[in-house]
Amino acid sequence: MASEGAADRSRAEVLRTTTPEAFAAAVVRATDRLRAGELVALPTETVYGLAANALDAEAVGRIFEVKERPRRNPVIVHVASGEMARRCVTAWPAAAERLAAAFWPGPLTLVLPRSREVPDVVVAGGETVGIRWPAHPFMQAVIRHCGFPLAAPSANRANEISPTTAAHVEAGLGDRIPLIIDGGPAQVGIESTVVDLVARPIRVLRPGMIDEVSLAGALAAEAEWGAGGRGNEGGGSAEALRSPGQLERHYSPRARLVVLGWRDEDDLRRRLEGLGVGRDGTHVLTYHRIPSADVAARVCVIPHDPEAYARAMYAEWHVCDRLGARTIVVEAVPEGATWRGIADRLRRASSPAAG
Ligand code: TXA
Ligand code: MG
Repeated sequence: MASEGAADRSRAEVLRTTTPEAFAAAVVRATDRLRAGELVALPTETVYGLAANALDAEAVGRIFEVKERPRRNPVIVHVASGEMARRCVTAWPAAAERLAAAFWPGPLTLVLPRSREVPDVVVAGGETVGIRWPAHPFMQAVIRHCGFPLAAPSANRANEISPTTAAHVEAGLGDRIPLIIDGGPAQVGIESTVVDLVARPIRVLRPGMIDEVSLAGALAAEAEWGAGGRGNEGGGSAEALRSPGQLERHYSPRARLVVLGWRDEDDLRRRLEGLGVGRDGTHVLTYHRIPSADVAARVCVIPHDPEAYARAMYAEWHVCDRLGARTIVVEAVPEGATWRGIADRLRRASSPAAG
């Protein structure tokens, strides 16, 4: 299922999972590769992951090579039971128990003190490890079959957009990895919420679709939650030490991405002129004040609720890149907790550093 152009370059085999037989066969194939120390791209509910045996330092090292990922950026460890999670850490505080009970399996990563079983390369030499129990049935089946946890960052080259379909993975990494499992389009669509349970107060390092209000609710009896505590808004220097990967130029399409608010179509036209971008090469991604199709080369409407928006967002950026957009103009999204993960990705993709 290669997107055109990628198919001839690609050497990766893509396995479907759409029948029970195909699913079971793909679990066996993926497990065999992972046991042999190889990498496999696997579906999760957030974005596709590039997986390796988390307890095999050499295998995890290959993840960094394939992604061209800086070694200082730690990788999330994926588990398929509470017991497997606890084997990777040296402390399992009440807050972990509450958050796991409320949100696992699901799009939440807990940062905890790391056990010595987890190799240095996984945690970038740090003293903590990020753990997640993903909800996708295929990912769960593979982890259970393997019997070991899987280290898996998003299955894209460093600085590119995270993949939400197997075709995205194939287009980006198909010439570098042997096996991609197609588990359908990702249901969440942006990366997991990362919560630091070692910091005091507890805080969000990377916002995602499990928002702070939900986290605070699950931690209601937990005195150490920084009430109203903000996530990684400023990306200041203390933050950088705690979560080095957050400073990378993540999540960027190749096109320049601009976030813009407008009152009506005339206002949008004026603003596009002000930006100095021509109609050609400009794609508008809108969800609320929808202009007519002729304001830009392409106008694309994304659903209005945050869950559906997140599910569609990266896929739309991928389409813009594939169609050769020079500028992606994204309608500004609302303030508020439910949109914070989306707003964070928009801010990163449009920051001057993201170029
Ligand atoms: O949804 C997700 O989390 C996806 C899927 C594949 O599970 N994975 C993902 O991985 O987004 P990655 O490597 O692209 O992003 C992991 C982020 C990095 O920004 C990293 O800094 C942070 O999580 N992280 C991982 N381990 C950490 C740790 N021990 N302390 C602080 N931050 C950590
Ligand atoms: Mg990533």
